[in-house]
Amino acid sequence: MPAPTDLTHAQFLDASDPLRSCRDLFHIPPSAKDPNKPSIYMTGNSLGCQPKSTRALIEQELDDWAGLGVEAHLHGRDPWLPYHEWFRGPAARLVGGKEGEAVMMNSLTANLHFLMVSFFRPTEGVGGRYKIVIEDSAFPSDSYAVQSQLRFHGIDPREGLVRLKPRSGEHTLRTTDIEGFLWEEGQQVALVLLGAVNYLTGQWFDMARITAAAKDRGCIVGWDLAHAAGNVPMKLHDWNADFAAWCTYKYLNSGPGAVAGAWVHERHFKGSGKVAEWQSGKVTRGLSDTVALPRFEGWWGTDPATRFQMKPESSPPASVEAWQLSNPPIMALAPVKASMEIFDKVGMPALREKSLKLTAYLEQLIDAELKDKIDIITPRDPAERGAQLSLVARSVPRGLEKRLHDEGIIVDFREPNVIRVAPTPLYNTFADAWGLVQGLKRVLST
Ligand SMILES: Cc1ncc(COP(=O)(O)O)c(C=O)c1O
Repeated sequence: MPAPTDLTHAQFLDASDPLRSCRDLFHIPPSAKDPNKPSIYMTGNSLGCQPKSTRALIEQELDDWAGLGVEAHLHGRDPWLPYHEWFRGPAARLVGGKEGEAVMMNSLTANLHFLMVSFFRPTEGVGGRYKIVIEDSAFPSDSYAVQSQLRFHGIDPREGLVRLKPRSGEHTLRTTDIEGFLWEEGQQVALVLLGAVNYLTGQWFDMARITAAAKDRGCIVGWDLAHAAGNVPMKLHDWNADFAAWCTYKYLNSGPGAVAGAWVHERHFKGSGKVAEWQSGKVTRGLSDTVALPRFEGWWGTDPATRFQMKPESSPPASVEAWQLSNPPIMALAPVKASMEIFDKVGMPALREKSLKLTAYLEQLIDAELKDKIDIITPRDPAERGAQLSLVARSVPRGLEKRLHDEGIIVDFREPNVIRVAPTPLYNTFADAWGLVQGLKRVLST
């Protein structure tokens, strides 16, 4: 067996990879060095590659629109009226939810806001809960969203926002420290909203333990799954989280700004029939099982059986679809369908199995070949990470990202010195990991 640092070793691993044919399902952008070859595309954590089936699914909807006009709502090949219903099973399976708990709608930050309308319900006075907890290195959009939610409720973010910081000299948060914080201060916390896989460090939080600790202290728990959906296996329902939202353009390969996902635990649907009561003011705000959650509503959130009776009052179904507002953008949902068909077929267990091997192989190569130039800040424990490794370069040559691009390698660089690489199991190969390390060696030695 050749040494792991030999290309033949990577080729051997590719030849025995049960998912190797999945790469053929995707367009891999060509290399800038040799346009006849695919690039080493290591940025699926930012924008995933295009499935080859996407174009046909969009064209089908364009053709049905051209040929049937409004009648495609009922008579299209995939009728538009119930189009979103196709996602119920695949979306729920992706995040470990039950059918009825997951829906595709809007965009990620919009979904976080709409869900916070329901789930961030600060209470005042002695013993009040009004704080939101995020990780210090939360993605800026989450940071802005929660601050604006606090202000919307008249709370100064300097008072109401808690940013969990790693210990000095460490890059990632310790689960025990999060649990400790919740134990000590959880009674003031209304909402814990963390990025399940942190965008910068690639740390996959112990979602089960953190959810349990936060629920134990009476907090609402929401997860931003932007870097987790399609990357790591989850059991949101069993873990007892309250809500989650995710985008679909990263590991889910649905295209820039693609339609996002939202998930709500089914225990929050029990009060759905009480909406009218809540609206009439008979029930004050609260989150108990018998009280409807307040939410912003639109006509796609009413019972489809009576939607076209055009009644002035909504009768929302007992499902997350009650949070839908508008009729879905079919041209934008078609790429999500193309992608979810792949995920549903391959399944997260098989993807995770390859992902563990591929990421570990890349880590092994970096340790062997780049130890003096790069530190890996992503947790070393595979249970605490997905497909991303965040690398801190000790010295960053000018134009690093461009120089790698010219080598045919596409990675993501975050100022001042973090290179994020994501060997995604659906389309990256072990030879890609090998080629990336060779490229980094060349560029970092100049
Ligand atoms: C963790 C996280 N949250 C939120 C966002 C913002 O997503 P959007 O622009 O789709 O609302 C991103 C985008 O990359 C992200 O990575």
